Amino acid sequence: MKPQLILLGAPGSGKGTQAARLVAELDYNHLSTGDLLRKEIKSESELGKKVQGIMDAGKLVDDDTVLELLNANCDLGSNVYIFDGFPRNGEQAKALDSVVLKDAKSKAVYFEIDLDMLAARLTNRRTCSGCGEIYNLLSKAPSKEGVCDKCGGELTQRKDDNEETVKTRLQVFKETIDPVLAHYEATGRLARIDASQDPESVFGALKAVTEA
Ligand code: AP5
Ligand code: MG
Repeated sequence: MKPQLILLGAPGSGKGTQAARLVAELDYNHLSTGDLLRKEIKSESELGKKVQGIMDAGKLVDDDTVLELLNANCDLGSNVYIFDGFPRNGEQAKALDSVVLKDAKSKAVYFEIDLDMLAARLTNRRTCSGCGEIYNLLSKAPSKEGVCDKCGGELTQRKDDNEETVKTRLQVFKETIDPVLAHYEATGRLARIDASQDPESVFGALKAVTEA
């Protein structure tokens, strides 16, 4: 079985974009804690109501809540996952190993990119409300404004993709990423790729890492 894959990287570094391609071409299952949390908000569940304000502000939801949600959506017996958006701090990195992965083999990939490049990517992102396809008004615009090329669904902007919240998200990332990288480095499971390249080149680098 391929190792479970953990994508690490700043908001807008391209984790979701690349995960979709890995799912389509290499038979992975995509597990994004951000997507799981947004689903809770959309369904207006108790959990959704609890986390909405935190996510809108660009802060991190508490570790126990996210870990529980992740674990409930994860069956490692028969699936190879891409963990996207988890772990986000040192505690989550340890918990992923001890509570979720246990003995499963895993590899982490860090999407390295200058954070100054990311605000433009994020504020120009649009996502299909039907199939989840990710667009960008600057680099990957849909053929028809507001409409998904793939399924005809409506394109929407994430609530946390405004300039002010993006600043907070990038700041939170800067303050929390080091222990996460140290955790995977110390256990010999960390690869780094240059996420400033075009999506095709990033995919090539990612594929090489998964096959190494
Ligand atoms: P989450 O949904 O995980 O968001 P994020 O980490 O901020 O990352 P993004 O989804 O914004 O970026 P991405 O790397 O997926 O980029 P994408 O591929 O879309 O988390 C949201 C919130 O949920 C958090 O703030 C927190 O509140 C909460 N949360 C989630 N997990 C949590 C956890 N574990 N603990 C606590 N709280 C948690 O690309 C972005 C744009 O760039 C797109 O427009 C795309 O088209 C474009 N693009 C992609 N690649 C390229 C490229 N190579 N060149 C040019 N443009 C590109
Ligand atoms: Mg994402």
